[in-house]
Amino acid sequence: MANAKTFYLETFGCQMNAHDSEKVIGTLEQQGYTQVEAELDADLLLYNTCSIRDKAEQKVFNRLNDYKKLAREGKRFAVLGCVAQQEGEKIFDRAPYVSLVAGSASYRKLPEMLARLEAGETRITGLDDRQTDETFETEFTARKNPYRAYITIIEGCDKFCAYCVVPYTRGKERSRGSDSVLEEARRIADSGYTEIQLLGQNVNSYRDPQGARSFAELLAAVGQIPGIRRVRFTTSHPRDFTRDIVDVIDAVPTLCDHVHLPVQSGSSRVLRQMAREYTRDWYLERIAWIKSAKRPISISTDLIVGFPGETPLEFEETITLLDAVQYDAVFGFKYSPRPNTPALVMIDSIPDAEKATRLQILLDRQREIQRANYEKHIGETVEVMVEGNNPVREQVIGRSSQNKPVNFTWNHPIAPAPGTYHQVRITRAFPNSLVGEAI
Ligand code: 5AD
Ligand code: SF4
Repeated sequence: MANAKTFYLETFGCQMNAHDSEKVIGTLEQQGYTQVEAELDADLLLYNTCSIRDKAEQKVFNRLNDYKKLAREGKRFAVLGCVAQQEGEKIFDRAPYVSLVAGSASYRKLPEMLARLEAGETRITGLDDRQTDETFETEFTARKNPYRAYITIIEGCDKFCAYCVVPYTRGKERSRGSDSVLEEARRIADSGYTEIQLLGQNVNSYRDPQGARSFAELLAAVGQIPGIRRVRFTTSHPRDFTRDIVDVIDAVPTLCDHVHLPVQSGSSRVLRQMAREYTRDWYLERIAWIKSAKRPISISTDLIVGFPGETPLEFEETITLLDAVQYDAVFGFKYSPRPNTPALVMIDSIPDAEKATRLQILLDRQREIQRANYEKHIGETVEVMVEGNNPVREQVIGRSSQNKPVNFTWNHPIAPAPGTYHQVRITRAFPNSLVGEAI
């Protein structure tokens, strides 16, 4: 590789991946690399991949195929993330010009892997496969989001839901010490960020290795750091959702009015097949806790339709769950069989067209629920943190504490900067966003 070491990095998948990439960029920059925006300008091309659904690995191989000719120009390739961990050395067989394959549980070894790459080695792997107890902490993180700082507090997953690849791609569950989390949060606040989002595959399964703080206590401590105005956390697992999380949201004003609590299905039988380890009623009890809070906590969820064996009546139970909870946002997915997962032995019995129909019914129903929920905000004044602006519509784009998108007009020559807060009076509502004017 030449003296001026340049890299191009592209990220797919969830916020954990987005934040892993920020840490990978920090690590590369510390090793003397410079990030470039165009693949053609880079010596090293890295893809941080996702394998959650829809034959994602196929997309990665197609992508690598498209870039075969860049390999002939001497560029080198690295595949990171969940497809890397899932496919392992098979990636070298299908795309021999790839030099490095590493899953997220091996990123702490990146400096060493990069040194080997620079020494001309090929077929370098970091495939920890549920071996490590360590977390990935970098001296330097290249935070790319101008208004929200991510902090990973727990990595990996030990839940083994029947449909899910994550326990196989992100390794076993391991939490960071709460002192180290708080130290990072303080540094972030000192650098000017006001919003922190704590991340984990199951963020509320957090277990402080020092035994000093529970998850709720950690939330409170982050929320009390001077300068921090908003704290979010994602994703929560119903199994580990305790009542003290609601109490702490009530008690600490900087914690946002939002909980994302994936339910996956409204049918207790399907939930059992999915190995979710809770029933519909058990989940609804947690929802009741959240709804009994003093603050207006918004609730969102993830749902899977067409899990093997899901009957029309069981699907109907998912629809009645929507009515019962009245979510503010739903991410709905068609079941997709994933390598290594326990559900693979169950027959993927529901044809894709039927899954698509169920998903459409679900999204249509939810749209009506959201239409009603969002309309209730008309006339209210909400605090919005600016994320950007839409010059065509002459609107500023931001989010409320409840995580609802708010677009608002602004009577000033200079639009407010990302990361600033404004009081906005809501004048119109759509099923997915609110519209208002700054006051
Ligand atoms: N098929 C469909 N959806 C899935 N999810 C996870 N695994 C699968 C799968 N095999 C969904 C779940 C999860 C979200 C991140 O992706 O709803 O909460
Ligand atoms: Fe995709 Fe899941 Fe990996 Fe995130 S953890 S990148 S969603 S497979």
